[in-house]
Amino acid sequence: MTEINRIRITDLQEKKRRREPIAMLTAYDANIAGLLDRAGVDVLLVGDSVGMVLLGYETTLPVTLEAMIHHTAAVVRGVRHALVVADLPFMTYQVSVEDAVRNAGRLLQEGGAAAVKLEGGRPVVDAVRRLVDVGIPVMGHVGLQPQSVNQLGGYRKRGTHPGEADAILADAEALQRAGAFAVVLESVPSVVAERVTTSLDIPTIGIGAGPHCDGQILVLHDVLGLCDRFVPKFAKRYAELWHAAGDAIGAYAREVRNGTFPSDAHSFHSLATVPRAAEG
Ligand code: KIV
Repeated sequence: MTEINRIRITDLQEKKRRREPIAMLTAYDANIAGLLDRAGVDVLLVGDSVGMVLLGYETTLPVTLEAMIHHTAAVVRGVRHALVVADLPFMTYQVSVEDAVRNAGRLLQEGGAAAVKLEGGRPVVDAVRRLVDVGIPVMGHVGLQPQSVNQLGGYRKRGTHPGEADAILADAEALQRAGAFAVVLESVPSVVAERVTTSLDIPTIGIGAGPHCDGQILVLHDVLGLCDRFVPKFAKRYAELWHAAGDAIGAYAREVRNGTFPSDAHSFHSLATVPRAAEG
């Protein structure tokens, strides 16, 4: 059997040591996952952002474990090289360590993920330690934590005053001590991200956290301009596919209505291509 050259969590740690930036994006289905994989993205996150980006929810809170397993399995089917990390959704790891292990286990066993991500720092380290102990790699997530939007009072930047910045560093260090293999820093000032990145041995992955992290992640639909929802200022748009797709679909609908599509060029001419009705 040919061994597929898959990216592993140890490769990410090696990249940090070699100062080689890690490219990470969100993915939610097999088709796009295959595209990102072939384009050379190192890590695909099946984020619970799927709730807002694909499923029409206003926050990530309604996303269920079943939905995450469904999307994770699709992404894994599309990928040959990238490391696939799946988000543990809201309320699947906060109630008890046992819950965390059972639910993370399902993301690996049924979804096929290679690792899970969960939000929070010191309050979740018991769960992180146990997950790592049983062989489930964990990526942490500190700074802005979208699952806590109601507690935080919105999606505002975190770590903008010294107390909050110190707390973010303490949370990231606690996650590292508990065995996390990497940590996402979301919406924190660049100087805070730099301080955390130099303090940790494990890679930091920034989103709205400036250039000093060991890697970067963005939500795919923001990168491709594939949505008409609010896009955060830090998300660089590399394409404007929403408008291009809208124009294409508009042209299709017009041509169906005015009879230009389908033309003869899109039709079968030979009867031989039509399957014969069953006899008898
Ligand atoms: O759910 C998600 O997509 C995320 C990233 C934005 C880091 O957590």
